[in-house]
Amino acid sequence: MGKALEGIKVLDFTHVQSGPTCTQLLAWFGADVIKVERPGIGDATRGQLRDVPDADSLYFTMLNHNKRSIELNTKNETGKEVLVRLIKTCDVLVENFAPGALDRMGFSWEKIQILNSRMILASIKGFGPGPYEDCKVYENIAQCAGGAASTTGMLGDVPLVTGAQIGDSGTGLHLAFGIVTALFHREQSGKGQKVSAAMQDGVLNLCRVKLRDQQRLATGPLEEYSQFGENVPFGEATPRAGNDSGGGQPGRILKCKGWKKDPDSYTYFITQAAVWKSICDIIGKPKWKEDPNYATPKSRLPRLNEVFGAIEEWTMTKTKFEVMDICNEYGIPVGPILSFKELAEEQSLRATGTIVEVEHPERGKYLSVGNPVKLSDSPVEVVRSPLLGEHTQEILCDVLQYSDKEIRDIRESGAIGEEKK
Ligand code: COA
Repeated sequence: MGKALEGIKVLDFTHVQSGPTCTQLLAWFGADVIKVERPGIGDATRGQLRDVPDADSLYFTMLNHNKRSIELNTKNETGKEVLVRLIKTCDVLVENFAPGALDRMGFSWEKIQILNSRMILASIKGFGPGPYEDCKVYENIAQCAGGAASTTGMLGDVPLVTGAQIGDSGTGLHLAFGIVTALFHREQSGKGQKVSAAMQDGVLNLCRVKLRDQQRLATGPLEEYSQFGENVPFGEATPRAGNDSGGGQPGRILKCKGWKKDPDSYTYFITQAAVWKSICDIIGKPKWKEDPNYATPKSRLPRLNEVFGAIEEWTMTKTKFEVMDICNEYGIPVGPILSFKELAEEQSLRATGTIVEVEHPERGKYLSVGNPVKLSDSPVEVVRSPLLGEHTQEILCDVLQYSDKEIRDIRESGAIGEEKK
């Protein structure tokens, strides 16, 4: 049986992180992803944060698995002719250029539709239509403009960005969903369409609960936020919530045994109402089960500092893994703070293919994150990222059916760079 997206050809004009996240997912599901790169230069991330001299960086390799690379200068007249042929042959064109770059290249949505009415054009930009639509955007700008930074960090301290790349990878995920939806729609309509995902919108979507809280502020303080119990007044906007849990079940990050030496000896602990009595027993506070000041979620809200202080006295006597083992027996939701060292070594993640070891001709073995979405009938085999222009000849010949003579002429025009040995 073929892969889920087998037969779908993706013309991949993406670079850096947001777009490549999207096209890598499509490739993992079986699409033939043809990455177009400037001759001799390629995706700028090939050379960024290099850890092995002259080898493609981990930044590039980890975002471009299972793709083929063609070097093509799309500003060269012959290069444009090749691009026209690619547009006529492919099903999806994905790009995350700065606003207007595709138009400046001479390939507007109107022109693409004339060349191939079944083509789906999928674009990531920093902002949607509006005052900032012409701005270039990177990850942290999106986190700030999408509302995440204003609600991340400790109360009274500076806004913080998060290590999760919600602006880049998050928007790439949104775009992949839009592309697959448009492909499904094309089955009935026979026509392609334009799919747009703005990074600000993607981050905002992931921060949906903060807009919920913004509206709840109109009817009173947010009682599940720690600042309520600390008698710190609320302002006009959803505040930074530290490590408070986002939902109605209060949670905190608490110290575990060894925290003085190990910066990751912490656990997340949630005082879920359903298991409150078990929590009281475990931490040695059985009287709290019936005490009206502690027995109900509402009665606990003004005294969360005291409650979590008592729980932390207990967690500090255990390692984060002991806390996990003990609490899970009682159905109490907790989560050890796992470092990247621990995640890289976690065998169960290797077994499911969520962390994979990949062999690369220039750099040897490296670790990457595999496909986090598993399809039972479309398993993923992670294939190393392509070298710059590795498949130029193959794509011109097999996909676009150029003759050897024509390929020589294209090469002479300077449209596709040097021949690879
Ligand atoms: N042949 C010829 N020219 C090419 C080419 C090719 N194969 N591929 C790209 N180019 C050109 C583009 O046409 C563009 O030329 P122009 O400025 O004359 O129109 C130029 O290369 C640079 O592209 P651009 O996307 O503007 O790169 P940049 O380095 O200036 O900006 C970003 C990078 C990420 C800031 C910008 O692309 C952006 O804002 N993208 C949208 C949001 C986004 O995805 N951001 C997150 C990235 S992780």
